[in-house]
Amino acid sequence: MADLVLSRGLINGEWIEAIDGKYVDVINPSTGQVITSVPDMGEKESEAAVMAAYNAFQDWRSTTAKYRAGLMKKWFDLIVEHADQLAKLLTTEQGKPYKEAYGEVLYGASFIEWFAEEAKRVYGDVIPAANPHNRYMTMKQPIGVVTAITPWNFPVAMITRKVGPALAAGCTVVIKPGEDTPLCALAMAKLAELAGIPNGVINVVTTARPSVVGNVLCSHPLVRKVSFTGSTAVGKLILRQAADTVKKVSLELGGNAPFIVFDDADIDKAVLGAVISKYRNAGQTCVCTNRFYIHEKVYDEFMDKFTRAVQALSIGDGLHDGTDIGPLINQKAMDKVSALVTTAIEQGATLVLGGECSEYGRQFYKPTILADVTENMAIAHEELFGPIATVFRFRDEEDVIRRANDTPYGLAAYFYTRDHAKVWRMSEALEYGILGINEGIISTEVAPFGGVKESGSGREGSKYGIDDYLEIKYLCHGI
Ligand code: SIN
Repeated sequence: MADLVLSRGLINGEWIEAIDGKYVDVINPSTGQVITSVPDMGEKESEAAVMAAYNAFQDWRSTTAKYRAGLMKKWFDLIVEHADQLAKLLTTEQGKPYKEAYGEVLYGASFIEWFAEEAKRVYGDVIPAANPHNRYMTMKQPIGVVTAITPWNFPVAMITRKVGPALAAGCTVVIKPGEDTPLCALAMAKLAELAGIPNGVINVVTTARPSVVGNVLCSHPLVRKVSFTGSTAVGKLILRQAADTVKKVSLELGGNAPFIVFDDADIDKAVLGAVISKYRNAGQTCVCTNRFYIHEKVYDEFMDKFTRAVQALSIGDGLHDGTDIGPLINQKAMDKVSALVTTAIEQGATLVLGGECSEYGRQFYKPTILADVTENMAIAHEELFGPIATVFRFRDEEDVIRRANDTPYGLAAYFYTRDHAKVWRMSEALEYGILGINEGIISTEVAPFGGVKESGSGREGSKYGIDDYLEIKYLCHGI
């Protein structure tokens, strides 16, 4: 088994320190203890990483898809072989329960396997010509150097969801992992190295100064594509930085997911979906439910069952058996969640459960339910990113569609009903990129993940996920 706790960044196949020798601590959010330190890299290292990726691209782009797929399959096998070790590292630096971390490692690995297979299916076209003297064709080519800026909430899977299609297409990458969770990124890069992926194809820049590194990686003329997962505010900044050199940009940004339960729904199923879609990763995912809309006829039944299910969740260190809810990522996240709840209660929401820090530790927030929430409260419009359920009542379909869509976000939405006609009406009316219909977990490598409106652009995973890493070239051949 490889040692996967690494304390150096990776540029051009070399595991290096920051030029000025500065380090930044990586903290376990459950215990507050330092796990290790990683280099606090800046502008110069970011430029070196881009150059390394650019040089490596010259050879990598002309390898065959079969060759790249073979290396990626080896990488996939190594990730699966080290799944337990990676999951423990993930829980230690990010906090999510081990069972979720293990699930994330396998989910992350699935993108490498999937795109290794897709690499061999990047086809061009022969197009019927518009005149007898020409023949038309298209070919698809790798776009070039890719910057992958990844978040702390999925430190493995958000890397593979970007690096998988990039490598499959023939691109090379510079990864800037989330400041709180660089260790999984380094571990994944180590396994890629062991799989034989050539030097410079994957580079990792660790930093405590994301704006300095991000600015180089999103504006450097040799970078041709930026893929970012994170907040809408940072996504907008990245779009601006990438504009001057007209880079292709994929953004997977914030959400404000509604979860609608109609009066004809299977309530037990809805409760199960509600718990998983809300409290997974302590509510820290972009697709976590933000707003529950419950039909007034089933409101009491749903609330009674939902409250009992949430009460049964156990808080603790993710490495302990039976933990359902781990810590929030840092103190800033904790402060934000506490402030949102306090303000909502001041504005008239009813506290049903939780609403305070757990006795388990200062970064653990109790799973919380707020009822009687209305749209004029600030909490209805914020991405919560914490274990807080806000519950609204509704009476009719048209009204709930209008309220669900009344947000600048459009990533995921969920609804529960047994009426098939209603399924189609809702599916067409909801302005979201992903719908969970009688289902609270929607993520898989085989389906397209992405949002509309201010939740982003582009799709990750699925047969569409490789398109963002390819350019289409049109060949007009005169004969
Ligand atoms: C995210 O929160 O950004 C990703 C969630 C997922 O892939 O399920």
